Amino acid sequence: MLKLGVNIDHITTLREARYRGLPNGEPDLQAAVRICEKAGAYGITAHLREDRRHIQDRDLKMLREVVSIRLNMEMANTEEMIRIALGLKPEIVCIVPENREEVTTEGGLNVVGQLSSIRETVNQMKEAGIETSLFIDPDPDQIQACADSGAEFIELHTGAFCERFKTGDFEGEFIRLQKAAIAAHEQGILVNAGHGLDYDNLKQIHEVPHLIELNIGHSIICRSIFTGLEKAVKEMLVLMQGYGD
Ligand code: PXP
Repeated sequence: MLKLGVNIDHITTLREARYRGLPNGEPDLQAAVRICEKAGAYGITAHLREDRRHIQDRDLKMLREVVSIRLNMEMANTEEMIRIALGLKPEIVCIVPENREEVTTEGGLNVVGQLSSIRETVNQMKEAGIETSLFIDPDPDQIQACADSGAEFIELHTGAFCERFKTGDFEGEFIRLQKAAIAAHEQGILVNAGHGLDYDNLKQIHEVPHLIELNIGHSIICRSIFTGLEKAVKEMLVLMQGYGD
């Protein structure tokens, strides 16, 4: 069964748009987490960015206390974030590249170019009982480097595929995803995927083998404005059903 990690950053993007610098405000993140759990999510994903543009440090602490499913902390491979993750002990961290100018995470992590530092982070997480996922483009060299790093998971960046899906001309990007999933599986790496996934392109993702978990945020939160969060999560879960059958 394909599992759903709900990326809840967008809830705090909305809150910070009105309540930045204040200790609380709406929408209430804790209430959102409860609804995602009730609707059947497998995990809650939150990205603590260096600029704290959405998730705040206090949000992560609260999440660690209230999330009863799997907590996935997305983070850059920096000393500050490593320290926070080791203190927080999420079940898993997902290491992502981070660029101050970007609206959202744009490209995959260059594991090839920083293998020794990533390997060190993976080892620190392992010692603390935290699994590590590496968010990468579907590229064979990156997959080999992920295997060399000792990370348990990769998360395949589906952004390029999702962009092309809107134009109908997605075959090339889609084949890259399929090949990457197969290559990672052959290396013994567990495979997640995410970025840009929505209620339309999800059906195509069923044709990518070896997937364990999808991390989805924007499309679910957008739909929730009209349907409510519980229904938006449940509708995504329905679309995920039947994977691998
Ligand atoms: N996975 C990673 C590593 C991400 O950075 C993001 C975006 O925050 C997502 C998944 C979710 O992407 P989206 O919000 O487009 O569903």
